[in-house]
Amino acid sequence: MSNHLSLLPAWDDAEGVRRASDLFLATYGSRPDGVWAAPGRVNLIGEHLDYNGGFSLPFALPHRTFVALARRDDEFVRLVSDLGADEPWTGSLDDLGPGRAAGWIAYAGGPAWVLRDEGLPVGGFDAAIASCVPLGAGLSSSAALETAVALALDELFHDGTLGADDAGRTRLAAACVRAENEVAGAATGGMDQAAALRTTAGHALLIDSRDASVRQVPLDLDAAGLAVLVIDTRAPHALADGQYASRRAACERAAARLAVRTLCEVADPEAALARLDDPEEVRRARHVFTEQERVRRVIDLVSASRLSKIGPDLDGSHASLAGDYEVSCRELDVAVSAARDAGARGARMTGGGFGGSAIALVERGAESRVADAVASAFAEHGFNPPAFLVARASAPGGRVA
Ligand code: GLA
Repeated sequence: MSNHLSLLPAWDDAEGVRRASDLFLATYGSRPDGVWAAPGRVNLIGEHLDYNGGFSLPFALPHRTFVALARRDDEFVRLVSDLGADEPWTGSLDDLGPGRAAGWIAYAGGPAWVLRDEGLPVGGFDAAIASCVPLGAGLSSSAALETAVALALDELFHDGTLGADDAGRTRLAAACVRAENEVAGAATGGMDQAAALRTTAGHALLIDSRDASVRQVPLDLDAAGLAVLVIDTRAPHALADGQYASRRAACERAAARLAVRTLCEVADPEAALARLDDPEEVRRARHVFTEQERVRRVIDLVSASRLSKIGPDLDGSHASLAGDYEVSCRELDVAVSAARDAGARGARMTGGGFGGSAIALVERGAESRVADAVASAFAEHGFNPPAFLVARASAPGGRVA
């Protein structure tokens, strides 16, 4: 990478453990019972399908959120983080319920409230959070936080029963989705929490959201001579501001009109589109139908070690998200077109959109040329300088100390 480009650093376990433990010690004057970490993610393809009964194909980033945590013998919870200038928070487990907790407290504490609501013997705790997952970048910093806390609580209050296998992790992921929906008030689907808890290193996670089943899909970018460059546009990004929920609501209305539970159950997309008369519902449904087709093609190509051929589907996904789904923004559009002009095989926004990050599939060795081209295009447009990282399919959440 050229010197003027900032590459967002991924901490190794030792650094993350040190930062979270130091913050714990400085805040509470004692040592934590352990440290847990969970990753951010990018989604290769299958965007806005997780709440439509479709497929998505995320993989875990090397960037993780670290949570140092200790059990308490009472109902109090204390939370501190390096995520912003926030003061440490103190309250009770009840204060972490819907309508009470907000901001990062909802993501950090919401899982505790949900797990207790679901009958797990969760009590009070102290936690210190340190993270290198870029915030508000569409890389799932919120799910990384929720799932790291959930793994810690499961282990300290429940013998690690749920974290130990995929069935338990599926349940933990569902609890974190509830925390996000009910406590944080963001109507998101389950892709991010599954990516943080159920991936394995070296693989993308094919999630079938009809039944939350998953399949590990080997993703050997090195062997294909390729790399996934992540472009954090640094454009403001928020999922709780109503736009995400309005996309979801339009899909649910369209599904109800078509008499299916979710849009991906539709057997004949052409006929279904002809039956919808609201233009907004037509556009949203068309994205869902065409995206599901693109994911299928990409799964086939990746499974057949033909990763270099997925570029057109990445491009098609972006066009559909920008045109039919209307969740892109100028910064994302400039990022993907500048990346393609600089030789990327394909590029698309990743995650919820409305700002956040794009991914570009580039030849190995071309990362810095493509990043330079994107940074120049941003400067020409007067945008904030973007940040970059190179994604490697990394490990799921777990205990690190
Ligand atoms: C956000 C949500 C996910 C998913 C994506 C879009 O990341 O948290 O559930 O809907 O947007 O694919």
